[in-house]
Amino acid sequence: MKVATLAVSIVFYSLFVLPSSVFADTSGEKIFHEKGCVKCHTVKAHGINGEKKLMESPDLSDIGLKHDSDFLVKYLRKKIKLNGKKHLKRFKGSKEEYKKLEMWLLSLKTPPAQ
Ligand code: HEC
Repeated sequence: MKVATLAVSIVFYSLFVLPSSVFADTSGEKIFHEKGCVKCHTVKAHGINGEKKLMESPDLSDIGLKHDSDFLVKYLRKKIKLNGKKHLKRFKGSKEEYKKLEMWLLSLKTPPAQ
């Protein structure tokens, strides 16, 4: 009886718990929230409507169509300018966190509805 219960819970675990955590890696999105990007930016295509829209912070729903990895890493670390200005916020965090954030940003390819 105990073995059956264990087997059922293993099957349940692998069917429902694992796929959401292993296959749908939403950690980049989580980092976007944790690092306060949502204080200024929206990502409407992902239902992220921002906390407080500061100044003219662009919606990032299609940011993956606009920039590549090389631009993002320099821009978010304030090494290069966009429209003559450096980014308002320097990304602070580990390389792993940055990489996850970047992969998520580059996957955003939903242009705003016309
Ligand atoms: C204090 C407000 C603020 C915060 C916090 C902030 N940003 Fe920005 N961000 C801006 C503004 C304003 C611009 C537009 C700059 C311009 O166009 O000159 C911008 C531009 C960008 C761009 C380029 C957009 C484009 O259309 O080319 C990216 C990518 C970006 N931000 C990502 C992030 C990420 C990732 C974070 C979190 C680590 C973040 N931002 C946090 C204000 C902010």
